Amino acid sequence: MSKTPQIVRTITALREVTSRWRADGEASALVPTMGALHAGHLSLVDEVHKHAKRSVASIFVNPRQFAEHEDLGTYPRDEDGDVAMLGERGTDLVFIPPVEEMYPPDFSTAVEVGDVTEGLCSASRPHFFGGVATVVAKLLIQAQCDYAIFGEKDFQQLLVIRRMARDLDIPTKILGAPIIREDDGLAMSSRNQYLDDQQRQMAPHLYATLCTVADAIRVAGEVEKALGDGTSVLATAGFDVDYLELRDAVTLEPITTAPQTPARLFAGAYLGKTRLIDNMAV
Ligand code: PAF
Repeated sequence: MSKTPQIVRTITALREVTSRWRADGEASALVPTMGALHAGHLSLVDEVHKHAKRSVASIFVNPRQFAEHEDLGTYPRDEDGDVAMLGERGTDLVFIPPVEEMYPPDFSTAVEVGDVTEGLCSASRPHFFGGVATVVAKLLIQAQCDYAIFGEKDFQQLLVIRRMARDLDIPTKILGAPIIREDDGLAMSSRNQYLDDQQRQMAPHLYATLCTVADAIRVAGEVEKALGDGTSVLATAGFDVDYLELRDAVTLEPITTAPQTPARLFAGAYLGKTRLIDNMAV
């Protein structure tokens, strides 16, 4: 059910549409994105249509989740292509706010989430979850949809957003959706575009190593040995490993012995300047 989505760039115009849907008794869902869409994002659009008749996707490259030295300036952008893809998947509305609409010059509020933000991605990106929590809180309040969806590729981000929405009593129900992978196993990400040919060939080793480590943990239960071996394999293959850790899938507490509760294996690693992350249930 292909559509030509309506594009809005102001919070007022966004709210006009979503409040009309609400008045008409139509459930709605928000798909927050930073654009440069791929099949992973489109799977989120398909998923929300199982829950809600109406959908709005936001495209906003959020400066607050990038550190000075990171890729804000070069982050891939393709508004026309993104809107066309969203239309093909039946998105009703696309919200593309300029930076000043989201952050007026005297903007002075930040949302900081504790606990589940500790370690993993925040160890090397300490600014990241504060920036994400702030922008997502704003988007949820701006759109006032019944649902919002986030991919499990950023599993820690999903837990941070769930905690933030619960702690701030934001009524939007937060949905998670499974990782979408390329045929060779690489988790889809807008940043995969940065990889050169050689790095792109190397990149699926991250997923393959996660599979091997997860199997070793399931079979032998020797968590530290499996993580150590996995880290060595990745480093030998040319990855600069940021972390390879087993955590409780709900609390994100580190796990060092054979897991008794649902656990999740997390990896973050650089190939050249490109940071790849991936995770899987154990
Ligand atoms: O996952 C992303 O693309 C971003 O972190 C999000 C959730 C859209 C917030 O900017």
